[in-house]
Amino acid sequence: DRIKLDYSKVLSFVGEEEIAVQREKATKALKGLEDGTCKGSDFLGWLDLPVHITDDELNRISACANKLREQTDVVVIVGIGGSYLGAKAVIEAMSGSFDAYSGTKVVFAGNNVSEDYLYELQAFLKDKKFGICVISKSGTTTEPAVAFRLLKDQLIEQEGVTVARERIVAITDEKKGALRTMSDREGYETFVIPDNVGGRYSVLTPVGLLPVAIAGFDVRALVKGAVDMRAYGKENGAELSATYAAVRNALYEKGYVIEITVNFNPKLHYVAEWWKQLYGESEGKENKGIFPASVDFTTDLHSMGQYIQEGRRNLFETVLSIDKTKYSLQVPCDAHDLDKLNYLAGKRVDEVNKMAELGTQLAHVDGGVPNIRVIIPELTEYYLGQLFYFYELACGISGGILGVNTFDQPGVEAYKNNMFMLLGKPGYERK
Ligand code: PA5
Repeated sequence: DRIKLDYSKVLSFVGEEEIAVQREKATKALKGLEDGTCKGSDFLGWLDLPVHITDDELNRISACANKLREQTDVVVIVGIGGSYLGAKAVIEAMSGSFDAYSGTKVVFAGNNVSEDYLYELQAFLKDKKFGICVISKSGTTTEPAVAFRLLKDQLIEQEGVTVARERIVAITDEKKGALRTMSDREGYETFVIPDNVGGRYSVLTPVGLLPVAIAGFDVRALVKGAVDMRAYGKENGAELSATYAAVRNALYEKGYVIEITVNFNPKLHYVAEWWKQLYGESEGKENKGIFPASVDFTTDLHSMGQYIQEGRRNLFETVLSIDKTKYSLQVPCDAHDLDKLNYLAGKRVDEVNKMAELGTQLAHVDGGVPNIRVIIPELTEYYLGQLFYFYELACGISGGILGVNTFDQPGVEAYKNNMFMLLGKPGYERK
């Protein structure tokens, strides 16, 4: 089985002919990706990446993960942006909702510079056997570098230099950057982020795979999902991705400049965060691009629902709809029925959720919000692999339709330069 796309509920907002115009552009954009003539073609390594991952690489990732799992109670994954969100998305999607209270294996740091967060993390790690998986492609990003410096010192203090070295794994560039230099000097085990894969496209490299393996989830199934999606796309001109890209661009042309990714299962919260980075950083440039937003339903129907139903009509929704739940639970019958819920007695909770989804779709479409659905058969590593690849390819195509370089991010430097100047980093005084 595979993920599916349903765009029937956009057709009262844009016609098939308008989508067809974008579809033609999508075909050209796909060709530009496949033959390497698009903008940013130095960064197309993700296209065939899943297919080229070898058994040896996966074995090495599993071996390293198993070693860390045996030696530690908890591993801190240090990274930000593309060096964070893919792993976080899979781990949140696959973990039990209350695992955090029952001996978690993986926590995250380096994705903010909150002093309180780092202080509390250090307090949490005190007297625990912990390890560090530090991830940075450039090896020079401030947020993870600050967190790593603190955590490395703590690890050395708690365990001594030799054990600390064994419990630190770095994922970085093959040759360049401070993290590479440090790893080589200290003898940390390292994994490489390929040169031709950008941060937000790196979830299927060790950047995503090692943390997922450390958390105990199935990286082979994740990769298999992506491989199958690539193979399926090759058979049919990347039908799914090209259609999604064409539909969202047809909507964009009509003034729908905000796309909200919606879930009805909070485990997908970070999948939407990953998607927001992928699309926001890839398309938001040259004063163009759809603004990617996200909500968790039904939670946010009681907050953002009002705006979506009746606010400015410049947004559309893409619902991540999971067909089958993992567990089964029925609404119980109550002799007194004081809450008047007996009409639901015996129904699956998921049926209530599905009807909420359908009811919301009808209401929002009526209210002027076009609706796309991405149907995921089940929440498993395999389908997440399919979903990641589907979205990555669609993003490459969509950026091509828009005419931007999908794979650069010149805009993220501005805040860094100011921060460095304000903090007195040598070389930045005159800026
Ligand atoms: O997609 C990107 O390139 C960025 O979001 C990076 O992943 C992010 O800035 C982290 O960079 P690095 O891995 O170099 O620390």
